[in-house]
Amino acid sequence: MDEIGHNSPKEIIINNEKFIIFLSEENIQKRVKELANQISKEYKNKFPVFIGILNGSFIFMSDLVKHVEIDCEVDFLRLSSYGDAKISSGKVRMIKDLNCDVNGRDVIIVEDIVDTGLSLQYIRRLMENYKPASVKLISLLLKPDSLKFDAKIDYIGFEIPSKFVIGYGLDYEQKYRNLRSIYILSEDGD
Ligand code: IMP
Ligand code: MG
Repeated sequence: MDEIGHNSPKEIIINNEKFIIFLSEENIQKRVKELANQISKEYKNKFPVFIGILNGSFIFMSDLVKHVEIDCEVDFLRLSSYGDAKISSGKVRMIKDLNCDVNGRDVIIVEDIVDTGLSLQYIRRLMENYKPASVKLISLLLKPDSLKFDAKIDYIGFEIPSKFVIGYGLDYEQKYRNLRSIYILSEDGD
């Protein structure tokens, strides 16, 4: 990331692998606004609580709620499934529980990306115990070809190929979350 300075390089080389821009900052911002408008309409006269799944969703969540035009609350849940690798460990752990009581509330879960759907399954089960009035899920990204678990996602930003992506909250070994665009591992020869 040496050459950046402005968090929007054209490409990034990590361990001899090249990542190229896949979704530009403009592209992402436009879609986030559309999703926020849709939620504002569908939750008119309601008071939903947005639950961001840390760490990955923090930037998306922040941009999303800035465009939501109804009263809302925010809270965060922290899960870990990846550790520090590029491949899911296959186990989900809760590292931080909710602070607010969502019993009887309209909950909107905010995810950065749904890959296998394992985290989502864990979250749905957890929510059942908390007895909210309703639960919807929004994910900025979905890798449809990677899904291994039933995943009902109510709002999807972009469907993407099953390749590793970084930026806009998404990390590789905890780095690159601060990039403004989303970068994808490029094919050999690109
Ligand atoms: P799942 O449980 O397999 O659906 O994975 C969900 C979590 O894994 C996401 O919330 C991300 O934190 C992480 N993840 C999945 N794919 C990627 C990726 O391509 N880049 C960075 N993180 C990812
Ligand atoms: Mg995540």
